Amino acid sequence: MRISVFGIGYVGVVSAACLAKDGHEVIAVDVDLGKIDAINAGNSPIVEEGIDDLVREVVAAGKLTATSDTQFAIDNTDASFICVGTPSAADGSVGLSFVVDVCRNIGTAMASKEGYHSVIVRSTIVPGSTESACIPVLEETSGKKAGSGFGLGYYPEFLRESTAIADYYDPGLVVFGSMDTGTRDFLSELNKDMPCDIHKVDIRTAELLKYTSNCWRAVKVTFANEIGNIAKAAGIDGQTVMEILCSDEKAAMSPYFMRPGFAFGGSCLPKDVRALGFLARSTGAEAHLLNAVLEANEAQIARAEAMIEDSGAKSVGFVGISFKPGTDDLRESPLVALAARLIEKGVDV
Ligand SMILES: NC(=O)c1ccc[n+]([C@@H]2O[C@H](COP(=O)([O-])OP(=O)(O)OC[C@H]3O[C@@H](n4cnc5c(N)ncnc54)[C@H](O)[C@@H]3O)[C@@H](O)[C@H]2O)c1
Repeated sequence: MRISVFGIGYVGVVSAACLAKDGHEVIAVDVDLGKIDAINAGNSPIVEEGIDDLVREVVAAGKLTATSDTQFAIDNTDASFICVGTPSAADGSVGLSFVVDVCRNIGTAMASKEGYHSVIVRSTIVPGSTESACIPVLEETSGKKAGSGFGLGYYPEFLRESTAIADYYDPGLVVFGSMDTGTRDFLSELNKDMPCDIHKVDIRTAELLKYTSNCWRAVKVTFANEIGNIAKAAGIDGQTVMEILCSDEKAAMSPYFMRPGFAFGGSCLPKDVRALGFLARSTGAEAHLLNAVLEANEAQIARAEAMIEDSGAKSVGFVGISFKPGTDDLRESPLVALAARLIEKGVDV
C-alpha cells in the first residue's frame, strides 16, 4: 500500500519506518527540513531502540522517503496518517492547531486529486475532535464530503517510547474507528497479522480509548507511588508489597472491578480506604489518590441522586440494596445510602 505519514516525530518515524519495513511505499511529511534531510540521508531524527538500523535499511531500499511537499505526498499515496503533536494548551485542553494545519494542507491537496484518499488521524485528540476539528477543515479545503468524497478514520497509537518498534509489531491493543468502508477495509488489511484483537468501533470510542489507556497508566503509577510512600513511612518495602499484589490475577489485577457503574461499598472497601488514608496522614506520607477515591465515590452516589431528582420520579424501585449481588451484607452499601437520601426527600422507595 502507498501511505503518507504527516509528522516525523516519535510516533511518525516509528510508524513510517515499520510500515516501510512491512513492504509499503511510505512518504513521510514534516515542516521541519532538518528531519526531512535526516530521513532522506538514512538517519533517524529520534533516539529509539533499533530505529537507526531500520531507517537506514528502508531508506536504502527506496521504501521510505521524506518531503515537505503535501501535494506530492497526497498524489502519490492512497492514505495519510496524521501523527503531529497535540500539546496541552494553557488551560489544559488539547492543542489541536498542528492537527488542523495538517488537515488544511491535506484537504487542499485532495481538492485536485482524482482518486479516493483516506485521512487517518493517529494523534491523540479528545473525543469529538475528529468530528468538530478535522472534518470541517478537510471538507472546506477539499470541497469533498467526509465518508464519501474522501475516507476518514481515527486509529490511535499505543506505542511506548524506548520499546516502540517491539510495541508496533506486538501491540497490546489495536482499535480504530472509520466513517467509510474504504478506510475500514484499509485499516483491517493493514492490521490483519497483528497478534492481538482488532477492535472496530466508532470514531469517538476510539478517541476515548486512547485517553482511557493513558489515564489508567497514570493512575497506576500514582497508586504504586502512593503505596510506596505509605510503606516507606511505615518501614515496609513497597516494592515487595506491589510485586505480590500484582501476582493476584483473581482480584487485584482482574477486569472485574473495571466496569463503569455505581459506587463501591460494603463492609471492607470504604473503611479500609479511610484507614490507610489515616495511617498515611499520621505518618506524614499523605494519600492524595486515596482521598480522591473517597471523594469520587461519594460523588457517584450524589450523581445517582441527582439523576433520580432530575427525572421527577416520585417513587423508585431498587432491585436489591446490598453493595453487590449474592450477599445480604448492607454495611456501607451505597444503595442503602441512596435509598435513605431519597426517602428523606419524600420519594417512595
Ligand atoms: N510519543 C509517544 O510515545 C506517543 C505515543 C502514542 C501517541 N502519541 C501521540 O501522537 C502524537 C504525536 O506525538 P509525537 O511524540 O510523535 O510528537 P512529536 O512532537 O515528536 O512530533 C510531531 C511532528 O509533527 C511535525 N509537524 C508539526 N506541524 C506539522 C505540519 N503542519 N505538517 C507536518 N508535520 C508537522 C513536527 O515538526 C514534529 O516533527 C501526539 O498526539 C501524541 O500525544 C505519542
